[in-house]
Amino acid sequence: MSNNVDNKLLGNVKNYLCQVDKKQLYRQAVELQARDQNKIIINGRRLINFSSNDYLGLSSHPKIIETISRSAKKYGFGSSASPLVCGKTELHGRLEQELANKTGRDRALVFPSGYQANLGMITALSKLPDMVFVLDRLCHASIIDGIKLSRAKFTRYNHVDMIDMQAQLGRYPDSVKLVLTESIFSMDGDVCPLPRVAEAALEHAAKLIVDDAHGFGIMGKNGSGTLTHFNLGQDVAPLMVGTFGKALGLQGAFVAGEDKLIELLVQLARPYIYSTAMSIPLAAGVIESLNIIEKEPQRAKLLFERIEYFQQQCTDKGIPCEFTNSPIQPVLLGESGAVMRACEQLRDKGVFVVGIRPPTVPEGTARIRISINSNHQFNELDMLVESLAVVLKGKPS
Ligand SMILES: Cc1ncc(COP(=O)(O)O)c(C=O)c1O
Repeated sequence: MSNNVDNKLLGNVKNYLCQVDKKQLYRQAVELQARDQNKIIINGRRLINFSSNDYLGLSSHPKIIETISRSAKKYGFGSSASPLVCGKTELHGRLEQELANKTGRDRALVFPSGYQANLGMITALSKLPDMVFVLDRLCHASIIDGIKLSRAKFTRYNHVDMIDMQAQLGRYPDSVKLVLTESIFSMDGDVCPLPRVAEAALEHAAKLIVDDAHGFGIMGKNGSGTLTHFNLGQDVAPLMVGTFGKALGLQGAFVAGEDKLIELLVQLARPYIYSTAMSIPLAAGVIESLNIIEKEPQRAKLLFERIEYFQQQCTDKGIPCEFTNSPIQPVLLGESGAVMRACEQLRDKGVFVVGIRPPTVPEGTARIRISINSNHQFNELDMLVESLAVVLKGKPS
């Protein structure tokens, strides 16, 4: 009997994997054999990496590495428990204070990852009466999963479509309404027009929650984030999420905002309560990373110069890139197979980019997601553009 069940299970799994493969949607992690900033080795091949979110090149900054090593020697590595048991140290506390100061919010709470931050924040808020979440259709999977897990009442509006957003808000006149959006959309790279979103939300007495995963560290004064870039305070956006795995070059995340809302997360956010606190040296590393961003504003300047250079080169060579004001520059090809073949051909030319396919992006919008960082050399960007020109020749734009 149990053998039958096992066979059925295995048959179903094989079927599923086969279907995914047929649709060109099979996912596979590549293993990096070595990494030196943007130079990586995969299967013995040396490639230039245009896929990482290390926008300011901080993931291997010597000072951060030294701080992490020193802190590991002093405290050990693992935090050994969840924050509310005994995993929270003075360093975590200091980091939270620095994040609150930097973002201009009352208080911040550190999570082990951005995925957990979104899950924790949304599920905690959903415990309050009369809540409705109104979210941009292109919000990240962690926001969608938070909504699904919480079984909260929600509705989605078409991407940055304020008319649709207002129509959705209008459906819930008596509810407590929270609009959820990303600041820089992770797969499209476009910067959300947050002042317009805030204004439209205000007309329906709704507040904003902004996932600033891709903006924190590169946008706003000293990398303080996209909300400060647009001068939007806590009165408009009482909660925001930032991550350490992108511009800060490390790992982990935080939610910052109004004091009582952060207190609600301490009481109710299960990914905070039931998960081991961020490692202690990592907390020290994040403090160092914030410090470097403050002291070396030229890193963000170098980044935006490189984005501009890349776009100019693409224009000159007629490459159909969706130009954005962020490090994320997608090239939409539409069909998953075409994207995967193009990525493989680019790898043959020494360029590492990844294909993004459904369900991460909507059906028919598979794309090459290029991400630029401050450490890319101009000749590396030339190589990228020249390779794109060859590989995309004759492809639909
Ligand atoms: C918009 C957005 N939010 C949240 C996350 C999750 O962050 P983390 O990688 O720290 O879990 C990501 C990561 O890709 C993201 O792009």
